[in-house]
Amino acid sequence: MKDSFGRKINYLRVSVTDLCNLRCKYCMPKEGICKRDHDDILTLEETEEIIKVFVSLGIDKVRITGGEPLVRKGILDLISNVGQLEGIKDLAITTNGLLLKRYAKDLKNRGLNRVNISLDTLNKNKYKEITRGGDLTKVLEGIDEARMVGLSPIKINTVLIGGFNDHEIRDFVNLTVKDNIDVRFIELMPIGEAQNWAIENFISNDIVLDKVRELMKIKGEDPSSPAIYYKMPEGKGKVGIINPITCKFCDYCNRVRITSTGKLKLCLHSDDEIDLKKVIREGKDLKEIILKEIYNKPESHNLEEGQYIKRNMFEIGG
Ligand code: 5AD
Ligand code: SF4
Repeated sequence: MKDSFGRKINYLRVSVTDLCNLRCKYCMPKEGICKRDHDDILTLEETEEIIKVFVSLGIDKVRITGGEPLVRKGILDLISNVGQLEGIKDLAITTNGLLLKRYAKDLKNRGLNRVNISLDTLNKNKYKEITRGGDLTKVLEGIDEARMVGLSPIKINTVLIGGFNDHEIRDFVNLTVKDNIDVRFIELMPIGEAQNWAIENFISNDIVLDKVRELMKIKGEDPSSPAIYYKMPEGKGKVGIINPITCKFCDYCNRVRITSTGKLKLCLHSDDEIDLKKVIREGKDLKEIILKEIYNKPESHNLEEGQYIKRNMFEIGG
């Protein structure tokens, strides 16, 4: 499956819910979000049907996201069914880790390969503050459990927040030294709910290399990955740096996204969406429509010019 710029599209990110058991300050409003009508959200059968068509068209990597995907009822069955599709090489999930202790083993048994865990601080009180109430201990236990059952490599996603976690950069980097854990630093994006907050608290990822001079660049990494990877001298895991705004990886973009309401997003940073829920409920030919739309994937984003999307991150899943 190729777009009009010759990019091969083989990676699908699927948000299964916009609900979450946390309220991170850069992502959700304090009071949470209104629950959508049942009918607005794809059923898990519809989600599976859409994924199946994508896989038949050449998608071999699927990531399940949210909101928090582990709060969606029936998620384990979806994972099993998708894991069994012929053609899937990599099935992963992005989670805040709160429910991982409970689910890691089942996820592994159902065919999940890997987990990415969102974690912005290693301090219990700060965690509670940024997530508006989350319990760090649960996340750390979840990470341990995931490692124990072999969901590896584990990747931790850390959003850099000025004056909040910049002094913890070395602590995060150190997590990659003795264990096979990757830590990826992400620049705060002014998306949706907390646009202004994000602009005020933005710090550039350059600070990571300034603070940890020992980091060495790793050559020959996958160009479609948004991260540039480094390593500590004796490190088992990697340190990734993701600059969504200042550094473009659009030329190598291999991914498309589906929201929990069934909208196909060809670019994270574009407001254009295709309503696949409508397509499927009207019994139209999904395959034909997906192929046509993929061809029209936009060339690149315009974040530098200040064009930000209206949707929130919890609706898209990163
Ligand atoms: N900027 C950067 N990263 C964000 N995430 C959510 N909102 C933002 C934002 N505004 C991250 C989460 C998680 C991933 C799904 O996206 O922390 O790691
Ligand atoms: Fe939930 Fe992730 Fe948003 Fe935090 S960033 S509120 S964990 S969806």
